[in-house]
Order: sequence, then structure tokens, then C-alpha cells
Amino acid sequence: MACTCVVGLQWGDEAKGKIVDLLTEQHDFVVRYNGGANAGHTVVSGGKTYKFSLLPTGVLRPHLCSVIANGVVVNPVRFFEEVKQLREAGVAIGENLIVSNHAHVIFPYHAEEERLSEGGEQAIGTTGRGIGPCYQDKAGRICGVRVGELLYPDHLRARLRAIVARKNKLLRALSAEAKQFDADALTDEYLKYAEGMRPHIRDTVHLLHKALADGKRILFEAAQGSLLDVDHGTYPYVTSSNSSTTGVWSGSGVPTRNLERVIGVIKAYTTRVGRGPFPTELNDGPDGVGEKIRKTGREYGTVTGRPRRCGWFDAVAARYTARLSGTDELAVMLLDVLSDLDEISICTSYEIDGSRIEDFPTDAFLLERCRPVYETMPGWRQPIEARKVGDLPAAARRYVDRLSALLGLPVGIVSVGPDREQTIFCG
Ligand code: GDP
Ligand code: IMO
Ligand code: MG
Repeated sequence: MACTCVVGLQWGDEAKGKIVDLLTEQHDFVVRYNGGANAGHTVVSGGKTYKFSLLPTGVLRPHLCSVIANGVVVNPVRFFEEVKQLREAGVAIGENLIVSNHAHVIFPYHAEEERLSEGGEQAIGTTGRGIGPCYQDKAGRICGVRVGELLYPDHLRARLRAIVARKNKLLRALSAEAKQFDADALTDEYLKYAEGMRPHIRDTVHLLHKALADGKRILFEAAQGSLLDVDHGTYPYVTSSNSSTTGVWSGSGVPTRNLERVIGVIKAYTTRVGRGPFPTELNDGPDGVGEKIRKTGREYGTVTGRPRRCGWFDAVAARYTARLSGTDELAVMLLDVLSDLDEISICTSYEIDGSRIEDFPTDAFLLERCRPVYETMPGWRQPIEARKVGDLPAAARRYVDRLSALLGLPVGIVSVGPDREQTIFCG
């Protein structure tokens, strides 16, 4: 039962992709269980940069089986775009890439629905990839279409005729300018995608159960971060799936009791893309620390190019998500980004309405009222060249130790640069 999950403990972009890539060699399967092409996982290997959005990072290693499991929402257009891009970059992709017949399909009307919903006051600041509307249809049942249904032309045409008629009415009700869709044209287009996807489509629950029975090692690659989890994150400013480890079981059919190792990935600071409360955000102007972190850490979204909001490490939030995701050990990422700072702060509790609290309130309207309480540590003010914990500047080591103590977890990995080589494995 050698299953591992790499999960983000903040609001995404914790550098999960780098950790997954480092661990792929020790596994036989890499499984995405949530989200879709809203994710952007970057891997730097041998001087080359690879970007993954819908596809598991495991596809970089063609001898592994990479699985897009049932909990993922699949846009076939993006699927082929990503396959093409990776093939052009020299990555061999064939039947090593498997897509669940039960993953839900994103259609163009999902993106249109999202565009119209995101136009107003109540915008979430989404990636615009149709993720939310597709999960809505999955839960709503009337309009949900699963990947396996694409393989049955008559069935698909009948389904889409009914669904598109309903969608067109709903979209028009949202806006007189809404796009309208043609069911038959959409069916013809998606039947073509289906032919291309056919060799990849499988019942992944049976596949993974067999893998477990055969003693294969499975690596689960979470998308987003635990604070964006639809149930346990900062609702409503979240994504629409269970991005913590709680999604592994429902999103893949593999009982979470098989998880032997949960690696909670944290940045040495905090970032967030999109709207929603962020107590430790540094809005301190063009010469401030927030902007310095953004520049040094190249904190711009992979999917949308939006500048990421930056701030100090929030131990209240990460302690909560570490527990939520059943974390065994931490991977502390992008430590090098803080190298140029005189002082570094960590949020250790909040103040709300005159009271001090240490339990993270996940309701966005309550979190908005929380003020961070900081402790401050000296910076190390030198680049980090270390490849062993013992070689880290003393202040950097003290900082990592403090994060570990505040979260009550050991640190297994410290990352000091994007490349595979820039990694410290703690003994
Ligand atoms: P993910 O979505 O969690 O996989 O994270 P992203 O790939 O969106 O963002 C992490 C970014 O940081 C990527 O551009 C990585 O190449 C980069 N990165 C990873 N580890 C480090 C590190 O230790 N230091 C620095 N400076 N960059 C890193
Ligand atoms: P990775 O896997 C950071 C954010 C969006 C928005 C909210 C909802 O790279 O860590 P959605 O399009 O999912 O409906 O948007 O979630 N978001 C992410 N933020 N990293 C991600 O993925 C994200 N995926 C979604 O910015 O605030
Ligand atoms: Mg990302």
C-alpha cells in the first residue's frame, strides 16, 4: 500500500509539480484526482521548463502510468493542446496516459456560463476554464456528461440536444448577449475528440484497484491548495473540487487509508491568485516586501498570467490545512526567494473583534475580519547555495525549524531553486 499524496497546504502554486517530479521515479502511477486545466504545475528539469495543466506531471516519465482520474474535469480541447505541446517538447505520450471514463467533460457552454457569472460584483476571480460550471453540472446531474459517454455517438447526440437546449435558455436568461450553441455541431466536434481520446479512456477505478493488488506504488498529485478546497477552504473563494487529500478517495476510488505518506507542500511565504481574504497579504507598494517577493519568486499565474498576491507565511492557516490533509511531513519551497530580506515575519495567531484566536476560520466573511499577529525573525541576506541542511545559512535553518515547530511536523524537503538539483533532502 505504498501510496503517497503531494498536496498543497496554501492557496495553490506551492510548487507541487516540482515535488511530484522528484518523486515520480519511486512510483508506478501518478494520479490527478481533482480540478482540471485550472492547475499550472511547472517542472524544471535538465535546463528545460515543462508546464502541466490538465495532465499529470508523471507524463514526463513515459514508463509510468499517468492517470486523470474520475474526480477531474476534462476539456478535450485542452487535453489535445497539452499533449501536442509536450510532444513538441520531446515528451513521448502514448497509452501511458489514461483518462477515466467517469471524469466529467467541459464544454464551451461551461466557459460561457463562467464568463457571465464572473462579470459582476460576486466574482470569485476564477481561471475562466469552465471548472465551476462543469462541477455544478456533475452535482446537478441533469446536464453532466462523462468522458465515457463521448464514445457512444447516438447517445451523445441525444444528450447534447437536450442539454444544449436547456443551456441556451439559461445563458440567455443570464445575459441577452450570451453566446448560443448548436447541439449537432458540438456533437460532431466532440465525437472527433472522442476518437482521439479513445485509446486513453479506461475505468480507472478498476485500474487503480488492480495496481494496489499488484503492489504498485501510486503517487497522487493534488491540484490547487487545501485552502481552495470547496468544503474546507475559504468558501466561497475556493475552487469547485476537494483539493485537500479529502478528494483522493472520491476523486480516484482509492481509499485514503492506503496513503502511507502525505507530503504537505508549503511556500516559505504565502501567495494567492484571485479574490478572497488573505490576512498576511503585503500591500506595501512598489518598493515594499510584497512586490519584492513577487519579482524574486516570479509570482505570476501559470494559467492566466495574473500577478499573484504575496504575503508572509501564515502558520494559522497552514497548521489547519496540515491537519486537514493528514500531513506526515512538509516540503518547504522557494526558501531562496526570501534571501534578500532583513527580517521575515510569520503569522502565529489572529485577532478578531478584540480576541486572539489560533484556529483558522474558513468562512471568508469571518476571515476578512482577522488581523495577523506576527513574530519576526532575522533574515540571512545571502544567496542559498546549500544542498545539505547543515550548509544552510544559520538564520535560514532557524526559519525552517520554526515553520516545522509551528506546524508540529518534520520537514522532509527544502527547495532553494526551481531546478531538480536545487533541492535539500533532510535526513
Ligand atoms: P504548483 O502549481 O504547486 O505546481 O506550483 P507552480 O508551478 O504554479 O509555481 C511554483 C513556481 O516556483 C514554478 O515556476 C517553479 O518552477 C518554481 N519553483 C519551484 N521550487 C522553487 C524554489 O525552490 N525556488 C524558486 N525560486 N522557484 C521555485
Ligand atoms: P495549482 O494546481 C492557484 C484559484 C483561482 C480562483 C479560484 C477558483 O497550479 O496550484 P477556478 O478556476 O478553479 O474556479 O478558480 O481558485 N485557482 C488556483 N490558484 N493555483 C491553482 O492551481 C489554482 N486553481 C484555481 O485563481 O481564485
Ligand atoms: Mg500552479
